[in-house]
Amino acid sequence: QPLAEDTGEVSMNGYEHYMLKEIHEQPDSLRNAMRGRLNDEDATAVFGGLNLTPQQLRGVERIILTGCGTSWHSALVGEYMIEEFARIPVCVEYASELRYRNPPIENNTLVFGITQSGETADTLAALNETKRKGHRTLALCNVVGSSIAQAADGGIYLHAGPEIGVASTKAYSSQCCVLAMLSLYFGRMRHMSFESGGRIIEELRRLPAAVEQALTCDSEVRRIASKYAEASNVLYLGRRYNFPTALEGALKLKEISYIHAEGYPAAEMKHGPIALVDKHTPSVFIMPRGTTYDKVMSNMEEVKARGGPVIAVASHEEAQIRRIADEVIMIPEVPEFLQPIVSAIPLQLLSYHIAVLRGCDVDKPRNLAKSVTVE
Ligand code: AGP
Repeated sequence: QPLAEDTGEVSMNGYEHYMLKEIHEQPDSLRNAMRGRLNDEDATAVFGGLNLTPQQLRGVERIILTGCGTSWHSALVGEYMIEEFARIPVCVEYASELRYRNPPIENNTLVFGITQSGETADTLAALNETKRKGHRTLALCNVVGSSIAQAADGGIYLHAGPEIGVASTKAYSSQCCVLAMLSLYFGRMRHMSFESGGRIIEELRRLPAAVEQALTCDSEVRRIASKYAEASNVLYLGRRYNFPTALEGALKLKEISYIHAEGYPAAEMKHGPIALVDKHTPSVFIMPRGTTYDKVMSNMEEVKARGGPVIAVASHEEAQIRRIADEVIMIPEVPEFLQPIVSAIPLQLLSYHIAVLRGCDVDKPRNLAKSVTVE
């Protein structure tokens, strides 16, 4: 198949689409997100541009993470990480709601705007509104010098490199990675031991290799995509750290293949969505081994028992998964807080291959813009 022509200044490096190139760039973009930010001597992370004193950071009593779309999904991952490692209460808000909701915000609250482009109108407005009220605002942003990077009091760049495909891929994994480092940073300012900090650093360092390994599922995912490309509805299910992954997998499929998809916490199925299950509605279970593994296995069994096709994303070869699921996509084992990054890979590839098979314009899906500067 002839390659589409490169557009703009960013080369496609021989890939057929920017999205595919950006999916495959993730081992490197993650290395870049971490470069110079892991400090073994103090077993913590270091950030140059927070523009806050250690005393101010130590005094933070609540964190608000805000953004839109995929950036809002990484905020949900960040909520789990920060609460687990730093024990700081976190609220995740859609920027478009936060800007008008006027919630009471306590002193010593830090507001992070999470954004790839740095130009999303609602995220910018939410940050400006909280800043106007006297709260400290920080940006977690990819595009250097963007409006949100300039409006915030300080921030952290993702260093993911240009993301051209409208569907965000490498920016999402970099956001999750930076949020993991931020959790380490806040954790080490509080109760987290030197040993635990050192262990998290080691796990982060192993992450790019794990993502490289996850990318080897590409041809298997393409085969699976060809079986399900005609579906009209797809469910994505996961728990804890993989609940945001389920939302992100569904959004990726919706935006580039125009298939209706929904993400849910797997256990919520029985409260309504399971009524949607039939032999034409595949369910993707994101279930690398972890705290809720056995529970998700029974959720998967419930779907199978109702005749729904099942695709499992798993980290361990197990007879039980093979028995229940119609398809199994293997990803490497990583600690639970890093699972959203690794398990997003097959979901990005699944939506990519399905969209290509359906003849969709992967990099420029209908009705969507890369930067949403309208309100
Ligand atoms: C992601 O695949 C979407 N295209 C979209 O949801 C995006 O994440 C959202 O518009 C926010 O963009 P931002 O990160 O540039 O602020």
